[in-house]
Amino acid sequence: MKRVAVLGATGSIGRQALEIIDASPELEVCALASGSNELDELATTRGVRHVQVGGDLTALLDESSPDVVLNAVVGFAGLPATLWALERGVTLALANKESLVAAGDLALSARERGGGLLLPVDSEHSAAFQCLEGRALETVESLVLTASGGPFRGRTREELEGVTRADALAHPTWQMGPKITVDSATLANKGLELIEAHFLFALPYERIEVVVHPTSVVHAIVRFRDGASVAHLGYPDMRVPISYALTYPDRAETSVEGLDFSEGLSLEFEPPDLETFPLLALARQAGESGGTYPCAYNAANEVAVAAFLAGRLPFLGIAGVVAETLEAVDGVPAADIEELVQADAEARRHAESAAGALVP
Ligand SMILES: NC(=O)c1ccc[n+]([C@@H]2O[C@H](COP(=O)([O-])OP(=O)(O)OC[C@H]3O[C@@H](n4cnc5c(N)ncnc54)[C@H](OP(=O)(O)O)[C@@H]3O)[C@@H](O)[C@H]2O)c1
Repeated sequence: MKRVAVLGATGSIGRQALEIIDASPELEVCALASGSNELDELATTRGVRHVQVGGDLTALLDESSPDVVLNAVVGFAGLPATLWALERGVTLALANKESLVAAGDLALSARERGGGLLLPVDSEHSAAFQCLEGRALETVESLVLTASGGPFRGRTREELEGVTRADALAHPTWQMGPKITVDSATLANKGLELIEAHFLFALPYERIEVVVHPTSVVHAIVRFRDGASVAHLGYPDMRVPISYALTYPDRAETSVEGLDFSEGLSLEFEPPDLETFPLLALARQAGESGGTYPCAYNAANEVAVAAFLAGRLPFLGIAGVVAETLEAVDGVPAADIEELVQADAEARRHAESAAGALVP
């Protein structure tokens, strides 16, 4: 029996994870955490004693001693739990990409010390992990991450000027929490995933490509040096990568349907529009610059998305805030978590002031 701590249990990933755990005789929930929503009902129905709403999640992890930490908290708030699991060699099923983006170098050092498993839950990274498993890195020419293109694919910058929160939250293929849905509309999500992939798979940025694939059936492709490409396909359903991470290496059965070819299936790809969606190019730039630039990118994006969702910033202002923040910070590498938290806070201050100046 694997005992799973479900962090972010009230969210989109958290709820789907609970569905998988409840249906599995080999998994049980040992701890539940959320940011502000109550967990009483989720805990009582499952007999879970270790529960925490907000605050320091590492105390909850200490007392519940999980075999697997499913980190489905949204944003930088997920960082302590990521480091807790990596440092101790406790298997980490990671949906919270922001923690790996912000603290990539520190997280990898912690994983080296802890020696445990880091299993991606992000669908593209779960797919890439499966395509790459058992292959020598020098045989890999590049990793191709697919992007749906979000609700605004094909639009020009002018056409994005008046878009609303409701427009941005209408994702064509994935049902997700509000922050990642806005990130998908700006392509910041793919930017975060680019940096996440760099840290997860030890690939340099020039060997990670992004391609737009509107139906989200192909989740990742690995090109090998012999000219072959290996892809991972399936209908867009997060229960597949969540189940894969929670039951690794067993690949348990799920209730998700496999692909149906009886009506035909077309796969279309196109290059991303980096001018209309500058947050993808800015992420590549932040990733290549290294140090705390990825942390600043993430922090500024979190501030800007929150301001957009609160109606304080126009949609195109999100990229503006991130660009200004990256200009303002020094990106000096963080020697430890305290320095990283300072870099995050400094980037947030710049981003808040940039967002304030852009108020409509
Ligand atoms: N949704 C997807 O399909 C998907 C796919 C790939 C990756 N991801 C990643 O998975 C993570 C979660 O995404 P989501 O879509 O599930 O988000 P979501 O629906 O907004 O849920 C976020 C969860 O995090 C909790 N939370 C927020 N702040 C917290 C804090 N300070 N301490 C503890 N818990 C906190 C929330 O609790 P409250 O309910 O109390 O606010 C909620 O349970 C994100 O990093 C996202 O990028 C999501």
